[in-house]
Amino acid sequence: MSLASMRKGGCEIYRLDPEKPDRRAIERAAEVLRRGGLVAFPTETVYGLGADALNPRAAAKIFEVKGRPPDNPLIVHVSSLEMARTVAEILGKALRLVEKLWPGPLTLVLPRKPVVPDVVTAGLETVAVRMPAHKVALELVKAAGRPVAAPSANPSGKPSPTSGEHVIRDLDCMVDVILDAGETYFGVESTIIDLTRTPPVLLRPGPIPVDVLERLLGEKILVPPEARGVRAADRPLAPGMKYRHYAPDTPLILVDTSPGAVERVVEAAVREAARARGLRVALVGPDELVDVVALLLRRRGVEPAAIFRLGPLADTTVAARRLFKTLRRIDELGSIDVAIVLPFPEKGIGLAVMNRLRKAASRRVGA
Ligand code: TXA
Ligand code: MG
Repeated sequence: MSLASMRKGGCEIYRLDPEKPDRRAIERAAEVLRRGGLVAFPTETVYGLGADALNPRAAAKIFEVKGRPPDNPLIVHVSSLEMARTVAEILGKALRLVEKLWPGPLTLVLPRKPVVPDVVTAGLETVAVRMPAHKVALELVKAAGRPVAAPSANPSGKPSPTSGEHVIRDLDCMVDVILDAGETYFGVESTIIDLTRTPPVLLRPGPIPVDVLERLLGEKILVPPEARGVRAADRPLAPGMKYRHYAPDTPLILVDTSPGAVERVVEAAVREAARARGLRVALVGPDELVDVVALLLRRRGVEPAAIFRLGPLADTTVAARRLFKTLRRIDELGSIDVAIVLPFPEKGIGLAVMNRLRKAASRRVGA
């Protein structure tokens, strides 16, 4: 692929092949990072908004662009174990996970090294570290030759970007370089586990399931209600947990009962649709449940304004990939007053899907 650079409002946009990213674009972006600039880049989970993690002025710009509260720390991305060890202590349990799961969608909260500026860790004694598996991300960090601090590239509180297009729309060239490699692979952010506590604590569910981590660690992991998204944390485990997240502008009503209890789900959804009579209602959720609810509504003479089938109940990886794109789409349509969302099983990446939906929801019913 040729080096297609586009300038728009001062920023450089490079379209890259995710499998074979152009070296020149990577080198250019790495140079911008080294000089204290901001680069948005794809990872296997969502797009990140990166800056040199060891440069406090550069890292501070991330907070400005995102409108991120300063007490919400950033994840530091590395390209090697050696680099990870410059920012965090990696021993015992951490090493076991890293050997099997890095590069990949797993973030470890570990004791920090003094080189990491306070602005990155929000003054905590710990630092969150991950080695991304996406070629563009990994090669970018490697070429920069230093750790890269990067939150998801969305404005604070909004759904995370899962395509270059989302980033271009969200950031509107408030960054120096955007690397656009199309859609990300998993669609939800990395699993975060805090290894500075005993037992280890799941801070955020993601693509790496809890049971995989437990098997590798040989011990149980604590999954607090906050990690499922069922309770807003007043004294949050991760600073980011106290903020509303992933929320589209359109109100979402989440039917939060076990998806196995089909009758309860359907009953709650139909009741909510009846309450919203006169409003334009979208249905969102597992294919099977959406189909049943749509059918029942039509029988009652109610036509949903839009239907979003996120994927089958049996394979929540599909829903994970479509989730944020769909939340954005609901707003973009501009014709939806309220979305009724049906639940997924909390198994594997389904736990991450439900966590995001609960945080995005303006109201939960049937819990
Ligand atoms: O997949 C991902 O993790 C993406 C890509 C870009 O790598 N990044 C991402 O970053 O999701 P962000 O900033 O959107 O979410 C990071 C979360 C926040 O909830 C933050 O509070 C938490 O990680 N976090 C960061 N450092 C922490 C620390 N030292 N202790 C506890 N939580 C921490
Ligand atoms: Mg985020």
